[in-house]
Amino acid sequence: MERNLTFVSIQEAVQEAYNLYKENTDGKNADYIPYLAQIDSRLFGISVCLLDGRSIEAGDTQYAFGIESVSKVHTAILALRQYGAEKLLSMIGADATGLPFNSIIAILLENDHPSTPLVNAGAIAACSMVKPIGDARAKWEAIVDNLTQLSGSAPVLIDELYRSESATNFNNRSIAWLLKNYGRIYDDPDMSLDLYTRQCSLGITAHQLAICGATIANKGLNPVTQQNVFDGAFAPQITSLIATVGFYEHTGDWLYTSGLPAKSGVGGGIMGVLPGVMGIAAFAPPIDEAGNSVKAQLAVKHIMNRLGLSVFSGDRVTITD
Ligand code: DON
Repeated sequence: MERNLTFVSIQEAVQEAYNLYKENTDGKNADYIPYLAQIDSRLFGISVCLLDGRSIEAGDTQYAFGIESVSKVHTAILALRQYGAEKLLSMIGADATGLPFNSIIAILLENDHPSTPLVNAGAIAACSMVKPIGDARAKWEAIVDNLTQLSGSAPVLIDELYRSESATNFNNRSIAWLLKNYGRIYDDPDMSLDLYTRQCSLGITAHQLAICGATIANKGLNPVTQQNVFDGAFAPQITSLIATVGFYEHTGDWLYTSGLPAKSGVGGGIMGVLPGVMGIAAFAPPIDEAGNSVKAQLAVKHIMNRLGLSVFSGDRVTITD
């Protein structure tokens, strides 16, 4: 079936979602990273980026928040760009764990590979894979450059978040060294962990995340800068990684109710990819027990349902003015 949307109908759905959930106070800021606990929990922004580069926004879409686990998608893309799809699968994997993002038992259960670049273990492994091996500074530049190209503008390191997270990331230190034990870390474990912690501490806006989602939805062509960031053949693989594990142990419920492959971060961000149609991002700090923003989930779900969109619908979507 053909689904015809207008620019105004999308604007209305975004504004409606914002108005509906603006006052919602469910969830709680992440507090295992001290910096995140003190962010204003009333912040709320929604941004949609269409494949012609136009944005539709409501609320705090220019506020730079901690990208956290959403950055796992960006570095998975970098690993795909540097190594290709086969190697990403053999060196990390593409399986959902069905377990929390920082699970150690998931590594023990599946010690032949860290399972997916979108949980902590796989994301630290992905940071270890980034070339050039052994050169922390150049690896960091590659990570930031890739993120900048995907989002159309540079992220800014939130130094206080980086320090806060580095001082408290004991669980992740165990993960890095456990991966080393299984031969699944491809550079120095402490350096790989530091890169992961730093990428999680990058400040990003909902506006930038929506552009990144749209770049993936547009098969690697950034619709704002017109830069071809990655080979379009990777797009289905990237979206499948997001779809299978983007919301950790809540991923199935999320996909079933929203129809949108999306990735969350404990900073309160969500980045969604609707292939061939748009990128959608939302941000609100209070999260649920799985680490996913409560308000951002409600808002994005509302927009998808209101517009009758789903990645599984089989509909051909057209957007007119
Ligand atoms: O590794 C951590 O714990 C954080 N830097 C990121 C976790 C995260 O965002 C999980 N996602 N919802």
